Amino acid sequence: MDLGLKGKKVLITGGSSGIGAATAECFAEEGCHVIIGFNNNQSAANTILDSVRRKGSDGAICQIDVSDIVSIQKALREIETSHGKIDILVSNAGKNIVTPLERVTNEEWEAIISINLNGPYYLLRESITLLNEGGSVIFVASVAGETGAPHHPHYAAAKAGIINLTKSAARGLAPRIRVNCIAPGMTVTPMGMDTMSGRDKDYAEKKLLAKRFAEPQEIAKTIVFIASPAASFIYGATIDINGGRELR
Ligand SMILES: NC(=O)c1ccc[n+]([C@@H]2O[C@H](COP(=O)([O-])OP(=O)(O)OC[C@H]3O[C@@H](n4cnc5c(N)ncnc54)[C@H](OP(=O)(O)O)[C@@H]3O)[C@@H](O)[C@H]2O)c1
Repeated sequence: MDLGLKGKKVLITGGSSGIGAATAECFAEEGCHVIIGFNNNQSAANTILDSVRRKGSDGAICQIDVSDIVSIQKALREIETSHGKIDILVSNAGKNIVTPLERVTNEEWEAIISINLNGPYYLLRESITLLNEGGSVIFVASVAGETGAPHHPHYAAAKAGIINLTKSAARGLAPRIRVNCIAPGMTVTPMGMDTMSGRDKDYAEKKLLAKRFAEPQEIAKTIVFIASPAASFIYGATIDINGGRELR
């Protein structure tokens, strides 16, 4: 199926690793111009850019710390100067720290909310004028935002906020821009494996209908689909991609 994405310009935060990197490669396969956001790992972002080019597409890398509004504004200004307006924004950058509910410090709470909720909101707000008419925004939430998570309550609360922000933004920006969200379950990435450490080895076998964790490409393909004109009637949705962890 032709997703109608050829030539579209895409910005992906957290494109230097895991789900974001797989998403960059997947958009490249559709012929998109891919701007790969990174925070600390510039060399990983360059490796993904090489991979985008090997697939016959082009793009760039861009440093954006989503926990810092000045960094967001500077990066978006640079993108507009070098690439013009964009068609698709994937707000994917995120961070988790595993700390039981009763032991989260004020600093840790604020840092996790800043990266996973404040940053995506500021990024959206600052990108509205950068997005072309007919554009699409995809937020990356988590199954934790639906179920709660006593071992990382700050992260779960932020992701629940993202699911709700998706609905507000979808209502506020339609029909000029479509806003949607995905809620992945455990995925084989550096963050996913950190979060899993300390859990039962047979967690997937016990809790998931799929009996295994997701590969980043399985999340990326859904992001690319809902960003595309092929999903033109999907507004304000949160798509579960959790191997059957939660059914609703
Ligand atoms: N993996 C899972 O099991 C899972 C499940 C549900 C939801 N998710 C969500 O999926 C998204 C991607 O996670 P992942 O598993 O692919 O993680 P990952 O492989 O650990 O990659 C995290 C990415 O986020 C970037 N990042 C971290 N802090 C940042 C900041 N302050 N500003 C900008 N970028 C920042 C990192 O950039 P640098 O490396 O360049 O610093 C990296 O590219 C996150 O929103 C996460 O919450 C993941």
